[in-house]
Amino acid sequence: MIAVKESTLIAPYGGTLVDLMVPAASIAGLSHYANRLPSVRLSDRSVCDLELLATGAFSPLDQFMGQADHQSVLDTMRLANGYVFPIPITLPIDDEVDVEVGEEIALRDPQNDLLAIMKVEEIYAWDLAEVAQKAFGTLDLRHPLVAEMHRWGKRNIAGPLQVLKLPAHYDFKDIRLTPAETRTRLETYGHENVIAFQTRNPMHRVHEELTKRAIEEKDGVLLLHPVVGLTKPGDVDYFTRVRTYKALAANYYDPDRVLLSLLPLAMRMGGPREALWHAIIRRNYGANHLIVGRDHAGPGNDSEGKPFYGPYDAQELVEQFSQEIGVGVVPFQMLVYLPEEERYEEITKVTPEVKTANISGTQVREEYLHKGQLLPAWFTRQPVAEILGETYPPRHRQGVCIWLTGLHNAGKSTTAAVLTTLLQEHGRNVTLLDGDVVRTHFSEGLGYSKEDRDDHVRRIGYVASEIVRHGGLTICAAVSPYRATRNDVRSNFDQGHYVEVFVDAPLEICEQRDTKGLYERARKGEIKGFTGIDDPYEAPRHPELHIETAQTSVEENAHAILDYLIRQGFVKTH
Ligand code: ADX
Ligand code: MG
Repeated sequence: MIAVKESTLIAPYGGTLVDLMVPAASIAGLSHYANRLPSVRLSDRSVCDLELLATGAFSPLDQFMGQADHQSVLDTMRLANGYVFPIPITLPIDDEVDVEVGEEIALRDPQNDLLAIMKVEEIYAWDLAEVAQKAFGTLDLRHPLVAEMHRWGKRNIAGPLQVLKLPAHYDFKDIRLTPAETRTRLETYGHENVIAFQTRNPMHRVHEELTKRAIEEKDGVLLLHPVVGLTKPGDVDYFTRVRTYKALAANYYDPDRVLLSLLPLAMRMGGPREALWHAIIRRNYGANHLIVGRDHAGPGNDSEGKPFYGPYDAQELVEQFSQEIGVGVVPFQMLVYLPEEERYEEITKVTPEVKTANISGTQVREEYLHKGQLLPAWFTRQPVAEILGETYPPRHRQGVCIWLTGLHNAGKSTTAAVLTTLLQEHGRNVTLLDGDVVRTHFSEGLGYSKEDRDDHVRRIGYVASEIVRHGGLTICAAVSPYRATRNDVRSNFDQGHYVEVFVDAPLEICEQRDTKGLYERARKGEIKGFTGIDDPYEAPRHPELHIETAQTSVEENAHAILDYLIRQGFVKTH
């Protein structure tokens, strides 16, 4: 064990770590008081912001920004007191919320848990176009934060905060460290240099290489600091990611050179400005270096297909402020793999004739994960590949809903029965939700009025969507006569995971097949609003499949659906 030196770590940005937590002894009294104040419910984003404000991660910022700070940050990347701070941290309130200056309000999380008391000192309007343009350099709605800002309230509130409780986290508790706790832990490593690594993606070999090079170059300890607050919509969920980080940190790093800790940050995908913000935040956690590679905190491409920011703009901006904020940049050009030498190298150091290999994010998803193919060992450590493989099962283990719609007696149930056995033959389990059968389970009491039948169809759709979300295959057989309702049901499923099959037979044929005597009763007027008789059947306009049961046998139809599922990859043939 290396001897612990007296505080080897860099001081927090601004000199001291902001701490907004009220002393333990006052919590009970203040909570009682706060429960009688008017409340504002915070968004998930604002909950993240509040947590980082409370613990000093945003030091020297100690509250949601008032107008002067906000304007100054937009125009000069500095707080009104001169400290560098590139990203606006504001608390927008919903337009209908009624708050007055001078009032105290309770801030609550989306579950209504009490978090803090704010003394409202300012309420001010903000301009979306100005913030979008100045902070993020674009008005393009493809920028995820610009798109999100359209849903925010038009006024911000600001004022001093007393935080009673940090947002509750029940997962990965042993690696959720506040800035103060992180500093304490880092002290024990006994290295002056702490290099932070920001990430919102699973870590592949290339990221291991970046971080290990940085540890070596700076002879320091790595603060492996993945974001678990809000990242870019569509990112790999953080539960999966954190399992990969834990596997990596435990098995592939020198334990004396790495500290894994989770950062509950709500990212803005602000490229260069965001990178500078990341550097300030990491300084507060005790780091004096930040790795900035290619396209740091990049939001992807704009609506013309062009990247919002240059790939190395972030490096440049952080470098510019490096001295002032006391955080050095550890820059990396894009790293590529050299298969013949079995090593990684920066692209700028590779001569054109040398063979290189890379797997893009899209290829990772489409050519490996979707096909149930493990990522190759040169690209991803095997424990990481296995964890990703569990989260992204191959197509033939993903969920899908086969929705059979058509008149009573069109042949939905018989087709479903044959299809079920064919699917079982091919190794898939089936949950059959036959409208007439499940009616007794979860639609008892519902009749055949338009409203009742709509409810019934929606209930089947809901159950089906849960089955599919959990990787199951379900066949639903329900008349489902209304187009609008069917489209609502479809909207519960991811693209491609809902297969509408129009089970088509002429009304005369269905009436002849009248197995339960329903048509006869409808004709006599004993059942009102019967589909096909005195209520319309709206045939699907664009079903994935259209089968005609008058001309084609049940078995042939079932095979047609099976073949479709095989083509879509939901069923394996061998
Ligand atoms: S993000 O917050 O910057 O979006 P991400 O996980 O994608 O997170 O990247 C983490 C860090 O690794 C960033 O500094 C990024 O620039 C760097 N990085 C990722 N992939 C590469 C690569 N192939 N070459 C160089 N740097 C990379
Ligand atoms: Mg990135």
